[in-house]
Amino acid sequence: MAIKIAILGFGTVGTGLPFLLSENKEKLAALLGEEIVISKVLMRSEETIEAARKEGFSYDFVLSVDDILADSEISIVVELMGRLEPAKTYISQALAAGKSVVTANKDLLAVHGSELRELAKKHQVALYYEAAVAGGIPILRTLANSYSSDKISHLLGIVNGTSNFMMTKMSEEGWAYEKALQKAQELGYAESDPTNDVDGIDASYKLAILSEFAFGMTLAPTEIACSGLRSIRSTDVEIARQLGYVLKLTGEIREVQSGIFAEVSPTFLPKKHPLAAVNDVMNAVFIESVGIGSSMFYGPGAGQKPTATSVLADIVRVAKRIQNGTLGKNFNEYSRPTQLANPADVMNKYYFSVETPDTTGQFLRLVQLFTSENVSFDQVLQQRGDGERAIVVIISHEISRTQLAAVIEKLQQEADFDLLNYFKVLGE
Ligand SMILES: NC(=O)c1ccc[n+]([C@@H]2O[C@H](COP(=O)([O-])OP(=O)(O)OC[C@H]3O[C@@H](n4cnc5c(N)ncnc54)[C@H](OP(=O)(O)O)[C@@H]3O)[C@@H](O)[C@H]2O)c1
Repeated sequence: MAIKIAILGFGTVGTGLPFLLSENKEKLAALLGEEIVISKVLMRSEETIEAARKEGFSYDFVLSVDDILADSEISIVVELMGRLEPAKTYISQALAAGKSVVTANKDLLAVHGSELRELAKKHQVALYYEAAVAGGIPILRTLANSYSSDKISHLLGIVNGTSNFMMTKMSEEGWAYEKALQKAQELGYAESDPTNDVDGIDASYKLAILSEFAFGMTLAPTEIACSGLRSIRSTDVEIARQLGYVLKLTGEIREVQSGIFAEVSPTFLPKKHPLAAVNDVMNAVFIESVGIGSSMFYGPGAGQKPTATSVLADIVRVAKRIQNGTLGKNFNEYSRPTQLANPADVMNKYYFSVETPDTTGQFLRLVQLFTSENVSFDQVLQQRGDGERAIVVIISHEISRTQLAAVIEKLQQEADFDLLNYFKVLGE
């Protein structure tokens, strides 16, 4: 007997599976007692089939998903095409045909996860997606299993390798945003349209999935505050360094009394924070919980072998469920009503960089503006101006999201003040 699988999309991750299946053949046989066999592979065209054959792959390549859906011997469909469509249609069809699905498609899970999970439940099959978050780090399974006995209060992650590579170059080499992006594109880390990576969208998709596993709450992408790297200037990075911080793009979910708050944003991290040392394309998820305390999970967030390893781990788990007759159980079973935090309860320090006229009395005006919203200063730095404009950098004491919004609005109302940037500042 063998467990027959089909692969949809034979690109970077898909072509990593044959290697792993052969590398781990004995271990998999010991774990499952049967072999996992790639029965069919969906390709886009005759040309891509030809190219795959030339590379030495000799599978049953098909051009229509119907050939896979109609094959009753295939029990697991592995979707590795990416994007929303036709992935959503094919996955829905596979689930409806009684096949379990493993996917690495974070975009799809973040946007249509609830619908697909419902469908899997309805048809009593499995839907697993460990590789969708932080590629090679087994974070979802860890949250689902090992944290079942713990209450998580705070999750902070670096979950987008491309933006972390860029921020590392900007911090360590003093590169400007444009140069860091160009290098990321040259190395194949960033796509020609880098929007999803640099604007924090990819990280917010992963945060949406992490929220379900860590907090049991489903967040729509629009419920996650999201800002990216485009506005970061070399001086922001330099000031962070001078003040003992490292500037990184983080994804954060915090539970306060009134609910959870989720945000992707450039963040001042204290140099001593474990996440501050996570550099280049590496990913990490830092968790604070009542039982375990502080813990961090670190590893490659992408790449063929790390990602395919997570995909194969899901295939093995689903195969076990098929053998045990426990299909139909959710990958994540923790679920409670989503409750968003009241912005007045979400507290952080903030960095503000404000350009003002370079004349006497401007600093006093700025102090008055912040004081009118009850915001006091932890640190202040005035940068030498050009005689006409000066830049004042402020690190505030802890303020709420409501105070933050009010200060920003007031700064924007002052025609001769220019709010260049504001970023969240985390404590140690
Ligand atoms: N690469 C990573 O490190 C990584 C990490 C984590 C998660 N993921 C996720 O894994 C998934 C796959 O990523 P990848 O890097 O392997 O992408 P990829 O290299 O672009 O591979 C996707 C493959 O799917 C094929 N494909 C797309 N649409 C198809 C269709 N309608 N019919 C048949 N084949 C189709 C593509 O063919 P064409 O070349 O002809 O378009 C390509 O061969 C994505 O959801 C991605 O977000 C990837």
